[in-house]
Amino acid sequence: MIKFPEGFLWGAAASAPQTEGHSLTNGKAPTTWDEWFKLNPEKFNNGQGPQNTSNVYEMYQEDVRNMPKVGLNSYRTSISWARLLPDGKTLNQEAVKFYRDYFQAMLDNQIEPIINLFHFDMPWWLMEKGGWENRESVADFAFYAKTAFEQFGDLVKTWATFNEPLVHIECGYLYQFHYPAIVDFKKAVQVGYHTLIAHEYAVREFRRSGIEGRIGIILNVLPAYSRSESVEDIKAKEAADLLNTYSFLDPAVLGTIPEKLIELLSYNQLLPDTQVDDKKIIAENTVDFIGLNYYQPRRVKAPSKVHHPAQMPSDLYESYDWPDKKINPYRGWEIYPKALYDVAIMMRDQYHNIPWFVSENGMGVADEERFKDDNGVINDQYRIDFMKEHLEYLHKGIEAGSNCFGYHVWTYVDCWSWLNGYRNRYGLYSVDLDNGYQRTMKKSGLWFKQLSNNNGF
Ligand code: BG6
Repeated sequence: MIKFPEGFLWGAAASAPQTEGHSLTNGKAPTTWDEWFKLNPEKFNNGQGPQNTSNVYEMYQEDVRNMPKVGLNSYRTSISWARLLPDGKTLNQEAVKFYRDYFQAMLDNQIEPIINLFHFDMPWWLMEKGGWENRESVADFAFYAKTAFEQFGDLVKTWATFNEPLVHIECGYLYQFHYPAIVDFKKAVQVGYHTLIAHEYAVREFRRSGIEGRIGIILNVLPAYSRSESVEDIKAKEAADLLNTYSFLDPAVLGTIPEKLIELLSYNQLLPDTQVDDKKIIAENTVDFIGLNYYQPRRVKAPSKVHHPAQMPSDLYESYDWPDKKINPYRGWEIYPKALYDVAIMMRDQYHNIPWFVSENGMGVADEERFKDDNGVINDQYRIDFMKEHLEYLHKGIEAGSNCFGYHVWTYVDCWSWLNGYRNRYGLYSVDLDNGYQRTMKKSGLWFKQLSNNNGF
C-alpha cells in the first residue's frame, strides 16, 4: 500500500468563473469572458457561455456538505474580482456575504479553503484600459488583494495570487484562446511581466496585512523533454523551461528573474518595460508555498527554421510529436505520469525544497453519460486509473524527499471550461445541465473517498 505523509491535503480545485454562474447578476460586473461571449458566441462550444456555469452561487451549501462524501479535506476556488469589486473600488456587500458564507461552510465541514485571487477572469473595466498590458493593473490588483485579505482573512489561511498566469498570457496574446486573442510576442512578455509584478504586490499586501496564514501562487507546469540530446534540442528544451516554468517559479520562490531568461528576451528584443524598484520588490516578496497544476509534459525539438528576433515561442522551440505517447483523445493531451516525479525532484533540488502541492491534475472526458451503470452512476474507471498512476509517481518523489503536502484533483463538480464549454467533464460529481444542475457522484468520487480515508491506496 502507498501511504502519503500525515496531514496530506486531499482536495479538489475549481474557479469562480467556471462554477459560480450568476455571472451578470447579484452585483457582479462583466469580465472579458462575459463580453467575449456577447461579441463572439460562435467561438464557444455549443453556445455555452459563462453566464450559468455550475450554479455554485445558489448551490454552495449543498456542494460543501457533499465534499466530505468524496473525502475532500481541502478545496481551492477563487474569488471573482468583478463580483467583489464591480468597479475596482466599491465593495459589493452581497459578494462579501456570499464568499463569507461559502468559506464558513467549508470550515464548518472541516474543509480547508484555499482561495485564489485571479483565475483568467479579467474585469472588463480593466480590460478597457488595456488589462495586464497597462502598468496600472498592478496597483488595481494590489488593491483587490488587500480588500480580499481584509474581508476574508479571518476565515482563509491559505491564499494564492494567480492560477496559471502563463495561460492568460499565452492564450490571450499568442494562441488566441482567451480575449483579446491577439498574436504579439512582445505584448505577451509585457503582460507576463505586469502579472508577475501584480503577484509580488499582492504578496507584499499580504505580509503588510499581518493576517495569519500562508500565501503562494498556482503555476501550470509542463516540464520540457527534448527529442534528443543534441545541442540544438537541449537548447530548445532550456528555452521552453525558461519561458514557461522558471519565468514564474524563480521570482516567486527564489526572488530573482533568471539571468538566462533576461538574455534570451534581450537577444530577441522582447524585454518588457520595468520600474526601478521592481527588482527589490521581487527579492523581498517570495512565497510560502507553490501549487503546481500538472496535466501533460511538453515535448520539444529545435526549431526547423530560425527567425531572429523570435516572433513566436516556436522560433525558440518547436513541439515534438513523440511516437510513443499515450494520449487522452478527448482533450488531446499526452498522459505522462512520470513527469510528476521529475517535477517533485525539480522542487527539491532547484527550489530549496519549498512546500508545494499538486494543485490540479485530472482527466477531461466527453460524453461521460455513456459510461453510466444500471444504478445511474458514471463508471469512470479511466479517471481512477489516471489518478493512481500519477499518485504513484508523486509518491516516489515524496519518498525521495520532495516536500509535497497535497494532491488536488480537477475538479469536484463538472465545470465550465472556457471555449470548450461543458464538452469535457472532469468532476468527481457529474452536473446535469438539463435537470437543475443536479449533482451525482461518479465512481471516482467513491474511490477518492477511500483514498483520502486511507491516506493512500
Ligand atoms: C487548468 C485551468 O489549465 O486546466 C482550469 O486552471 C482548466 O481553469 C483546467 O479548466 C482543464 O483544462 P480545460 O481547458 O480542459 O478546461
